Amino acid sequence: MVTGNQAQIDYWNGEVGQRWADNHSALDTAFTPFTQALFAAAGLAPGERVLDIGCGAGETSLLAARQVGREGRVTAADVSGPLLEAARAREAAEPTGGASIEWLQADVQSHPFEERFDRALSRFGVMFFDDSAAAFANIRASLVEGGRLHFLCWRAMAENAWVALPRAAVMPLVPESEPPAPDAPGPFRFALRETVQAILAEAGFRDIAITPVDHPMTMGPTPEAAAEYAVRRSPVARLLQGCNQTVQDAALRTLADLFVRLSGNGPVELGAACWLVSARA
Ligand SMILES: C[S@@+](CC[C@H](N)C(=O)[O-])C[C@H]1O[C@@H](n2cnc3c(N)ncnc32)[C@H](O)[C@@H]1O
Repeated sequence: MVTGNQAQIDYWNGEVGQRWADNHSALDTAFTPFTQALFAAAGLAPGERVLDIGCGAGETSLLAARQVGREGRVTAADVSGPLLEAARAREAAEPTGGASIEWLQADVQSHPFEERFDRALSRFGVMFFDDSAAAFANIRASLVEGGRLHFLCWRAMAENAWVALPRAAVMPLVPESEPPAPDAPGPFRFALRETVQAILAEAGFRDIAITPVDHPMTMGPTPEAAAEYAVRRSPVARLLQGCNQTVQDAALRTLADLFVRLSGNGPVELGAACWLVSARA
């Protein structure tokens, strides 16, 4: 089925998707406390069949494979070719010794999953659907009755200093643009608890629990590395898409200066706030 996700598919197969793939270990480090919260909530058991939604470079799929063990199965789905390629290479370089992983290039909003899963999980991979209600109905249909869904999504940008501060600093450098509509696909699609609750309920999920999780996010070991992360791979990268090299370089300098003012020459940590969501099919 054709969905309205082509812009996101292009985005995650383009420059930013490639940068995510090339730098996955820095992102995995930055997300560590959130990953731990997700897996603590999920409590995966040996033998379970798991769907990882928007698996990216595969960190959570590899963790799930270790936890469900050889008797389990993991389907790791993503629209991004470069990210799936990075994920496959990681598995080949460091076999988990656990479940076999099927790396599946697919749009989770509409993919007709043949298998039924005990669990579906996602680390920040569910906010990019053009039709979230349809996507979550499809995810629900992929779960066995009583199967469980666990995911992380960002709360409002204002609560996420790791995006809000660099974004505000870079805004004067870029052409004026309309702020995205609140229901547009993007990192802050599920910023409001009511939105998450309504979409999951509409898709037929029950026992919906939505819990705030807050941790500092390590942007990088130095101001320069943190600026690189913000400009090239964080949601600020979307703002700079299509800007010329002069603007990109100015953004890097502006953010490196900002981070020196905030954190000196050491590691840069900024506040990050998300929802940890659990529900039952
Ligand atoms: C913010 S990244 C998170 C990646 C990964 N879960 C992680 O934590 O590193 C969002 C991911 O969702 C994927 N994605 C976006 N829309 C998708 C869709 N409709 N179906 C499957 N994956 C999608 C992107 O390609 C990207 O890998």
